[in-house]
Amino acid sequence: MIDKRLFRLPGTKKLLLMLAGLTLLQAFVVLFQGKYLAEALVNSWEQKPLQTIVNPTILFVVAFILRHLFNLINTKIVENYASNTSEEIRSQLLDKVYNAGPEMISDEGTGNLVTSSLDGIDLVENYFKLIFTKLMNMSIIPPVLLIYIYMQNIASGITLTIIVPLVILFMIILGLAAQAKADSQYKQYTILSNHFLDALRGLPTLKMLGLSKRYAKNIYTVSDEYRRRTMNTLRIAILSTFALDWLTTLGIAILAVFLGLGLINGSFPLFPALVTLILAPEYFLPLRDFSNDYHATLNGKNALNSIFEILERPTKAKDDELTDFDWNENSQVEINNLQFSFNGVGNNEVSLDIDKLKLAGYQKIGVIGKSGSGKTTLIRTIGGFIIPDSADIKINNQKVANFKQANWQKKLTFLPQSPYLFAGSLAENIAFYKPESTEAEIEKAADAAGLTEFIQTLSDGYKTQIGEGGRGISGGQQQRIMLARAFLADDRHVLIFDEPTAHLDIETEYALKKPMEKLFQNHLVIFATHRLHWIKEMDYVIVMDNGQIAEQGTPDELRNHNGAYSKLIENMRGDQL
Ligand SMILES: Nc1ncnc2c1ncn2[C@@H]1O[C@H](COP(=O)(O)OP(=O)(O)OP(=O)(O)O)[C@@H](O)[C@H]1O
Ligand SMILES: [Mg+2]
Repeated sequence: MIDKRLFRLPGTKKLLLMLAGLTLLQAFVVLFQGKYLAEALVNSWEQKPLQTIVNPTILFVVAFILRHLFNLINTKIVENYASNTSEEIRSQLLDKVYNAGPEMISDEGTGNLVTSSLDGIDLVENYFKLIFTKLMNMSIIPPVLLIYIYMQNIASGITLTIIVPLVILFMIILGLAAQAKADSQYKQYTILSNHFLDALRGLPTLKMLGLSKRYAKNIYTVSDEYRRRTMNTLRIAILSTFALDWLTTLGIAILAVFLGLGLINGSFPLFPALVTLILAPEYFLPLRDFSNDYHATLNGKNALNSIFEILERPTKAKDDELTDFDWNENSQVEINNLQFSFNGVGNNEVSLDIDKLKLAGYQKIGVIGKSGSGKTTLIRTIGGFIIPDSADIKINNQKVANFKQANWQKKLTFLPQSPYLFAGSLAENIAFYKPESTEAEIEKAADAAGLTEFIQTLSDGYKTQIGEGGRGISGGQQQRIMLARAFLADDRHVLIFDEPTAHLDIETEYALKKPMEKLFQNHLVIFATHRLHWIKEMDYVIVMDNGQIAEQGTPDELRNHNGAYSKLIENMRGDQL
């Protein structure tokens, strides 16, 4: 009923201990409340002296106030815990996503991750607020009351004891049905978010192709399905509330009939009968509360499940194997027998299989190959975003299991095919790798990347807001901003480029070539590209084919050798140059 993984969250054990103590107090206060109310009523019925009526009434009022006070304290403690813990989970989730990098995002779907981390955590917070209190109430209050009722009258105790398993049985049956419905509802919810986000991202394309209407319909269908499943879940939730209310009311009614008969016969004194009858609804209340809120918390439980699943994804990498070093013209990286499969170890479909590869000093290494040959996969592996299934890797003569090493990654500048600008000012975006840069340094880097002219046309200059929700920036300008980042981070001596110019027109690409060549100096460059004119800038070429290095060597060596390189050039010449 309660996820064991919750105990791993900080503060859960302490919370449960505090709640247990508080709930026990509450149980006694509820008991006293019933007892003194019954006493006052019985005494006034039997026309006893006023004092014997007033005293229990005062005690009843005190118990009543205490009960609500404890309740208030309880709520405060739980709310505190819920908001702290959900914040903690949120930060763990973000850490995980940042650490796991692009692979996890493409596995999970951005929509799903956004759902889990934003909406999901709100649901989880609500779950926390409800589940602990209800669970404690249910496991502590009824037993305390039951013991007291047994002490008053064994027959009533037995009646109440028999009804409870029936109620619980119903709860389990309906709970399972509701769980199944809620599962499918939550699944539909993540599908909906993925659909929505993808459609939103692709909206300009869809619009251009005249497909936006069809896609809108698609989203409508998905959300309608979500509505249908929500209604299904609600139906079960309402049915189960009804069934439980009916059962417990019936239980109390049966008890009332028994007690009434006993009273009429005179075989039963008034006080135990009355106190039992007053306490019986209190006895069932926690159960009913729990089952009512159970349905309200199912979504939170599911959200928590999917969050835990993401958190529990193995982070295969240890990122502190590599001790710090400087990358200079004598440094080198050796990769031997590297294997990686997107679908896990032992899969027939090996996505990357590198026999032997050496990256040294300030080499300029071009990575070419047809689409799907594994260029991006290789580059991401070297960037440390992909953890190989097995590999012998040596960075600067130190053996490491993968490239996800803090001391390696801080030497890299990564330029993906579609650059990402963060919401912020132009200056902040340029200072991405070195936020502490001075204005003069930023301006120098921007100048080196050929941005000065563009920035002069902006009324806010370097303070112009760009990125998400900011000013639109053309593809070429975005790449220049990326280059400026690289120029500014001059202590990072390894440049990894994944087709940085692929979506630029050839004029823009040529305009970028000059600053890029300047940047290449004194850097190890790993450059994946489809555009063959870049090969002139390279002093080493890797030809990828089907996840393997089909051929590697200097451009001259490869040109003179009638192998994979020559074949590729022949195939590409028609449309690429
Ligand atoms: N996240 C992923 N999950 C499963 N398979 C993937 C994933 N990413 C890539 N692949 C597969 O791995 C292979 C290599 O892809 P990769 O993106 O490395 O090729 P590429 O050479 O960069 O292609 P392109 O020139 O089109 O960018 C392809 O067969 C691709 O389908
Ligand atoms: Mg690629």
